[in-house]
Amino acid sequence: MSHPHMKRPTIHTLREMKEKGEKISMITCYDYTSARILNDVGPEILLVGDSLGMVVHGHESTLRVTLDMMVFHSRAVARGSSSSMIVIDLPFATYSASDLPLSLKSAARAISEGSAHAVKVEGGRRMAPVISTLVASGIPVMGHLGLTPQSIHMIGGYRVQGRTQEAAERLIAAAHKLEKAGAFAIVLELVPSELATAISNELTIPTIGIGAGVGCDGQVQVFHDIMGMYEEFLPKHSKRYANVAGLMREAARSYVEDVRAGRFPENEHSVRQSKEP
Ligand code: KIV
Repeated sequence: MSHPHMKRPTIHTLREMKEKGEKISMITCYDYTSARILNDVGPEILLVGDSLGMVVHGHESTLRVTLDMMVFHSRAVARGSSSSMIVIDLPFATYSASDLPLSLKSAARAISEGSAHAVKVEGGRRMAPVISTLVASGIPVMGHLGLTPQSIHMIGGYRVQGRTQEAAERLIAAAHKLEKAGAFAIVLELVPSELATAISNELTIPTIGIGAGVGCDGQVQVFHDIMGMYEEFLPKHSKRYANVAGLMREAARSYVEDVRAGRFPENEHSVRQSKEP
């Protein structure tokens, strides 16, 4: 299998990339077949994101996603990937600063059963003790600031974060706090570009943006969005690189029409009593 990375990237590779000004690419991935395809391309990071609740399972938000679901999908991704670092989202209510033993138990399961290399946790300053606890146990942690979908009912909607001076200052302080707690990278979601660029310049760890402009050290996108597989909604920050849903629909239509018309299977798809052609 050909891929640009001889070795799977580590948290150290990512830090070096930031130092050299090389951009980091991260794509969500939820299954074995997609992981195999992405393995030929070699994004630095595959994120087994809890966005799978929406794009794979059809829920309205990420709040229905369980640790069992995350582990199940992460194992499949790990079986298909050898060239990317695998980061798994800890889902809603499986970690909290007020329950550090629960946080450690969840993260340990995500790593050992899910075969992931790192976990991602959502939240600002209050996540610092969670991050330092996990890091002290040898678990690399990615932070997630800005729009944090697991807190959607607190935030009140999927909207841009850090627009006011006060909110921007809070976000900058939180980013420093997460870095100090030991996070190896931070996702910035739906944050104004100027603010995301400023945070990226201030931190020594890489920032990975989604809807946060080109000034971040890397970018993350949801697989189904960039492939054109999830047609219900395309966020403003996403770009459709393909129309996979259209291709799949056409292929399925041709198959169904062929079956109905008796055009499929043909001789080459059939087996005979005798082995002779
Ligand atoms: O769950 C997810 O896909 C994410 C990305 C949008 C960063 O957290």
